[in-house]
Amino acid sequence: MQKKIAVILGDGIGPEVTQQSIKVLNTIAKYYNHEFSYENALMGACAIDETGNPLPDETITICKNSDAILFGAIGDPKYDNDPTAKVRPEQGLLKLRKELQLFANIRPVTTYAALQHLTPLKPKLLENVDFVIYRELTGGIYFGAKSLSEDGTVARDDCSYSVAEIERIAHLAFKHAQIRRKKLTLVDKANVLETSRLWRKVVQAIAKEYIDVTVDYLFVDNAAMQIILNPAQFDVVLTENLFGDIISDEASVLAGSLGLLPSASVGNTVALFEPIHGSYPQAKGKDIANPLGSILSSAMLLDHFGLTKEASIVREAAAWCLNSGFVTKDIDPMNSYTTTAIGDLICEFIERHAKGETHPIHERLHKSTII
Ligand code: IPM
Ligand code: MG
Repeated sequence: MQKKIAVILGDGIGPEVTQQSIKVLNTIAKYYNHEFSYENALMGACAIDETGNPLPDETITICKNSDAILFGAIGDPKYDNDPTAKVRPEQGLLKLRKELQLFANIRPVTTYAALQHLTPLKPKLLENVDFVIYRELTGGIYFGAKSLSEDGTVARDDCSYSVAEIERIAHLAFKHAQIRRKKLTLVDKANVLETSRLWRKVVQAIAKEYIDVTVDYLFVDNAAMQIILNPAQFDVVLTENLFGDIISDEASVLAGSLGLLPSASVGNTVALFEPIHGSYPQAKGKDIANPLGSILSSAMLLDHFGLTKEASIVREAAAWCLNSGFVTKDIDPMNSYTTTAIGDLICEFIERHAKGETHPIHERLHKSTII
């Protein structure tokens, strides 16, 4: 299979984690006879520095002409701490999501037995936790009209949703529920918000087309609590943009590290794959960031291309690393491996797998840092 992948390395640790994904994709290509070509494009703070624009037109063109987009992270503290900044790195990502109509952000939450000690939750609560969040990505308060009164004392962000915007993501979420455990939870705030009442009405109507799927409804405040109290109850969680942003970071705690969670953003055209973590500027260039969020996003990219066998090998490789103690500093500060070493180990696993060799479990030869 021949595929063109647009690569947006972005800011902070974006480049170093995405580099590992590219190595992994190249290893898959080599052993499974595919041809992946890459084209780099700018977005975020680095794009502002170079062009004054967080999303240059050229980036949009490169993305539109590709089969998929692999994205690292964006953000820079120099903008976070300056609320008056008119141009911000995040505007690039939001505009790209809108331009490409990436209306559904899919964030799987997987737990690994080897990492249970890292979560603040009791291990018992983590048993059988495996759910996926469908976050609406191109509507709601993120994209509503914004204003600040002339005297700077009143600010406003509008939140609106149309039936069509809710329907298109709801159908994707219901279809996914059908091939999983057949349960969908709508998270909203229908006791207060008009937009949430519309979400509920639309989802109730669509539910009739998916009679094999059980639907329940949770207010977002309760959902935030349930994710911690009883996370195993969830299968597919469907929610609007801002609620999805918040609960997906919360849910990442269940996995043990924010650095592990991948995501796919899909819509009507080309899809984008990115770890859910941010640009983690403190770690930039130190080769300590966890590349698994990005590598697992590449597995979602392979799935998207229909390469499901290849995708599962990448996931198997990631699980093998975690179970064998080949982990970055966020997971084991005392015994950690570099970002690059984890990328190399994943590639070696894929290579051994393709050659039919076995995988040494406690080989520590690759240790490159002891921190
Ligand atoms: C995410 C991020 C973004 C968001 C930021 C970087 C704009 O937090 O993808 O979850 O809020 O959507
Ligand atoms: Mg977020």
